[in-house]
Amino acid sequence: MPDAPLRVAQLSDLHISTSAGGYGWRDTTESFAAVAEHVMADPPDIFVITGDIANEGRPEEYGHAGAVLAGFGVPVYCLPGNHDRSDTFHTHLPRPGVVIQSTMKVGNWLFLFGDSNAGGLALHPRDGWIDTADRTHEAKGSFTDHEYSRLERQLAASGAEHAMLWLHHPPGSSRFFEEPEYDEQVRSLVEDTTVRAVAAGHAHTGITIDIGGVPSHLCPSTGLSMDFEAMTLMPPGYRRYEFRPDGSVQTEVVWLDDDRWSERHRLPEVAAEYLAGRATFEDVQAWLDTSS
Ligand SMILES: [Fe+2]
Ligand SMILES: [Fe+2]
Repeated sequence: MPDAPLRVAQLSDLHISTSAGGYGWRDTTESFAAVAEHVMADPPDIFVITGDIANEGRPEEYGHAGAVLAGFGVPVYCLPGNHDRSDTFHTHLPRPGVVIQSTMKVGNWLFLFGDSNAGGLALHPRDGWIDTADRTHEAKGSFTDHEYSRLERQLAASGAEHAMLWLHHPPGSSRFFEEPEYDEQVRSLVEDTTVRAVAAGHAHTGITIDIGGVPSHLCPSTGLSMDFEAMTLMPPGYRRYEFRPDGSVQTEVVWLDDDRWSERHRLPEVAAEYLAGRATFEDVQAWLDTSS
């Protein structure tokens, strides 16, 4: 890309579900199809998918998501979220045009793709890093030592002028999650380095926050998103980016704001309590179980 910007679409938190109850509240397969159609009306150069692709990490969930992503006909880079089971993510999602890799270089830009799911992994003496029994509920962001030094090393060794760090868990978002160690690790990756911005998912919202002096852009879910100021549900959404050779990054959130998803339901009281630290994830889950 000599002078033209690199145009990227970020999709996140697809939560494709093949179980009977689905994701609850919203049909995530239908909303993902709507987002796919919307974004391909003006196709980007590449896609980055920032995790929670499958709701329960099932092979058939990756089968569905992978088929849609491969149909875009432009390169799709994927990284895992806490809902993605590491084993099935790696065995059932990749296919021609849909890849899982640690970095990508284009022009003078390095894209670093990180795995922030150390809480869902355990080191097995023979098999290396494997999924823990429950990868979903211990949802806090963290890196294994191995992954953190890999990110540091590849950032230092790439020789690229500018870098973009893509993650599932948003750093610097203590208003949602208390993750001081993770925040500190991301801060040291981005402070006084070539990292120009961070992009993340997981919070299912579209705000931008500061981490170590660079913007951290959160991406809405293609399924169920929230506005945590208004405390309402939002339509499906995604982000578009332009990466320029001078190191600048333009981005905007795109909401599918049409009459299919026009209602702004209020978030339940338990969600507000959870965000304020007065309710647990299990309380939210119990509310979802009784109301969907
Ligand atoms: Fe998610
Ligand atoms: Fe997540």
